[in-house]
Amino acid sequence: MGARKPLIAGNWKMFGRAADLAEIGVLAETIGAAAGRIDILICPPAAYVQSSAWQNRSGPILIGAQDCSPNGADAARTGEVSAAMLADAGAKYVIVGHSERRQIHKETDDLVRQKAEAALSAGLIPIVCVGETQDERTAGKVADVVGRQVRSSVPSQSGAFVVAYEPVWAIGGNSTPTLAEIAEVHALIRETLAGQFGGQANDTRILYGGSVNPKNAGEIFTVAGVDGALVGRASLKAADFSAIILGHPAAV
Ligand code: PGA
Repeated sequence: MGARKPLIAGNWKMFGRAADLAEIGVLAETIGAAAGRIDILICPPAAYVQSSAWQNRSGPILIGAQDCSPNGADAARTGEVSAAMLADAGAKYVIVGHSERRQIHKETDDLVRQKAEAALSAGLIPIVCVGETQDERTAGKVADVVGRQVRSSVPSQSGAFVVAYEPVWAIGGNSTPTLAEIAEVHALIRETLAGQFGGQANDTRILYGGSVNPKNAGEIFTVAGVDGALVGRASLKAADFSAIILGHPAAV
């Protein structure tokens, strides 16, 4: 098994305007040599993918998108953006199946898998999000829910993809699972992937997401099986996001 290169990704959601894209340039200057040892990704809103990819074309920050169409080919799908277009625009990754899309936009595991497969076909690396709600955790269904989401949402063809474990109840708040709970779910995800992909599962990066901030990131990164983070609010400001990145053991 090759060592998995850590990935720390920022999900800007529907925040950040054109003027805020300068934060990415500031981030690039602050993280220094860490960028060689950790993949650093910012996923701005779709409207800014092309301009931010252009501004950062000489590195070190990678640019990604937050969603893509399940349609691989050009098609009459008003409002949709295909993975091929995002790749043309300079994106390298795309988040699919974020809980906000699963909940607000009623996306199913099947749709998320189609999006992940469209991303892979276009040469993008999909970051497939999974995670249980508070009710599901209270009912003791974490393994059932996350196991099902992984089995049904990751692409069926082999190829590079990333899984992000984002407990829905930890997103946008102040609470995170305990380190032991994070370790437990990451192990479950890798075991599930091994059932589908055998030894290749060891190459898949599994990120933790949900209320990661400069204070808690360092200890989360020490948890076995955590290959990086998917960060919402704390990725919007270069000062916060660089503090998270520089807190990774691989950064120094
Ligand atoms: P948060 O969001 O870091 O603001 O909790 C994480 C996410 O939704 O990816």
